[in-house]
Amino acid sequence: MRFHGARPLAAISLCVALIGSAWSEEKVLNLYSARHYQTDEALYAGFTRQTGIKINRIEGKEDELLERIKNEGANSPADILITVDAARLADAHEMGLFAPVKSKILESRIPANLRAEDWFSFSTRARVIVYAKDSLKANDVQNYADLADPKLKGKVCTRSGSHPYNLSLMASIIAHQGEAKAEEWARGVVANFARAPKGGDTDQIRAVAAGECAVTVSNTYYLARLMRSVKAEDKKAMEKVGVVWPDQKATARTSTFRVAACLNTRHTRKPP
Ligand SMILES: [Fe+2]
Repeated sequence: MRFHGARPLAAISLCVALIGSAWSEEKVLNLYSARHYQTDEALYAGFTRQTGIKINRIEGKEDELLERIKNEGANSPADILITVDAARLADAHEMGLFAPVKSKILESRIPANLRAEDWFSFSTRARVIVYAKDSLKANDVQNYADLADPKLKGKVCTRSGSHPYNLSLMASIIAHQGEAKAEEWARGVVANFARAPKGGDTDQIRAVAAGECAVTVSNTYYLARLMRSVKAEDKKAMEKVGVVWPDQKATARTSTFRVAACLNTRHTRKPP
């Protein structure tokens, strides 16, 4: 799966524009967002500049925002929810809070595998393998399957397996290899743990750099953040780790990509 660089920016604008254009008379779009990246500020500003519609952003965690929309019911001012990760999109979909959207523009710009009837994704990131260069070679960890190989006993660290990032990774393994193989893989990974799961992806990268473990998985943007950091400790950490985009050759799958997507709520105001 590939998502070309220029598209996510265009897509989020479209995503917002789609709903905004329906009722531009009120000039405010209520955007509930669980995605907190500075890069999005420019998109919101561009949208307001182009349309004159202000964005009223309510930020929070995914679960809190979904609960809020649910509790607000028919009175919810929410027009769009932005969230990240397929696992959370599935939760949102199942709650039935979101309305189907038909849009020729969105359908032509966003590949069918990155949208559903009630959500459209506008960015993707990969879950990659991060390893300690002083104890492993890139060749040792070319595939997710390697993480379960007994040769990595005592070398793997990870955040909790119940976190949506790892649930989505597990779901992708089930989708590619079936439940039995996926369970076997998960048991193999657990058997290779250097320590009990704790912390977020950045903590795992730091643990690899510090030698507490030799390999982990991380979403790409956590790596980018550390690479851009001006802190000496982060620069030092990044010198110690290597990155592998898993399953690029000779396997039946590719790296697991995560999506960020927007959904429009069932109560989006209609044009007057
Ligand atoms: Fe994250």
